[in-house]
Amino acid sequence: MPGSNLKLTLTICDRTEIPEDLKQGIVTLKQQLTEDLSNLPSHAGEHYLRGLNLPVSDIEGQQYVIGQINNEVIGFAMADYRTAEYNDRSYATMQLVINRGEEKLKEYMRDLFSSLVQNLPPLVKTLRIDVPQGKPEGEFYSKEVGAKVAFNMRLNVSDISQFNIEETIQEAKEEAQKLDEKGYELLYRTTDNFDTVAEDFAPLMERVWNFVEESNEETVKDVEAFPVERVTGRLEYLNAHGAFMHVFLAKHKETGKLVGFTEIAICDTNPIVGNQILTGVIPEHRRQGIGYSLKMQSLVYMLTKTKVRYWETGNATMNAPMLKINEKLGYKLWVTHDCFEIKQNEWEAFLKA
Ligand SMILES: CC(C)(COP(=O)(O)OP(=O)(O)OC[C@H]1O[C@@H](n2cnc3c(N)ncnc32)[C@H](O)[C@@H]1OP(=O)(O)O)[C@@H](O)C(=O)NCCC(=O)NCCS
Repeated sequence: MPGSNLKLTLTICDRTEIPEDLKQGIVTLKQQLTEDLSNLPSHAGEHYLRGLNLPVSDIEGQQYVIGQINNEVIGFAMADYRTAEYNDRSYATMQLVINRGEEKLKEYMRDLFSSLVQNLPPLVKTLRIDVPQGKPEGEFYSKEVGAKVAFNMRLNVSDISQFNIEETIQEAKEEAQKLDEKGYELLYRTTDNFDTVAEDFAPLMERVWNFVEESNEETVKDVEAFPVERVTGRLEYLNAHGAFMHVFLAKHKETGKLVGFTEIAICDTNPIVGNQILTGVIPEHRRQGIGYSLKMQSLVYMLTKTKVRYWETGNATMNAPMLKINEKLGYKLWVTHDCFEIKQNEWEAFLKA
């Protein structure tokens, strides 16, 4: 068979040690991964290069295994983990990409995966990886590694060019007016001036972060603390990865407390995509239109001040109120991912097999 004796060579290193001549190959594969996962245009290469060139950090790290054939990068595997104590350090998110159309997909996946799991930081006990449904990569994790799909992630996208700008501005104004009458003030902050609300935001974020989506009630798992340094650390992390945040907040005027927010990340390397990250309203203040109104404010912002066309958001579960809001905002199901969770005992068994 042509090329069947070509050997895969592996470079195993931390993100900060990746050889310069391998970076462009990784960037191209990361663009392929974005397109496969989102069915949307990827970022310009500089976005991924910026990520690869980040300096050593005391809050996160990335372990890489890069595969080459004849000096060409044909695939890589990467585990992205946290090192700060306030984060859950027992899991890492993983990427594994092989050149599109590669015949020996499964063989190379096996090699890269084996090497990655043998070089993980010792605290990591679980790996998470997203695979679009129906791709052969999914079979590798389910059949060969024996991993389970922990949940499905539904990527929903609204093409905001469908909105009439004047009507949308008018509706958002009316929504804000209704909230004002109910005793809420709307605020807008970005990465640049978030420090002015960070202290007040931390307790709101802590509650929202810990909501269990299925029940949509505050039946909480293990509560993860969200101190203010975690709020600022998260923004710093996103900023270092090129994501500029726009945060729309609702403040309860009587108590002065922040009670709801929605946030969009926009990268200058892909300005036509706005990534709606978290939205949350604390239970005592729900069902008064805060969630919807916040999203309307962010929609108007994108329509009038940005180049965003595709407004994307992910839902891990069927979340009745969020789906209702998203339906009103023109969202359609775009891609469904299987989110595999691979446990240490599973990768150890895989290595032995
Ligand atoms: C989703 C969430 C932000 C909604 O906030 P909210 O301020 O209560 O929502 P709104 O009052 O604006 O409601 C918007 C629409 O959803 C409907 N809705 C709200 N709660 C609902 C529920 N529990 N079941 C069904 N529909 C619901 C409302 O009736 C309204 O539709 P309508 O105008 O046609 O009546 C809030 O429930 C929440 O914080 N959930 C937990 C966090 C979360 O799941 N976030 C989403 C993932 S990031």
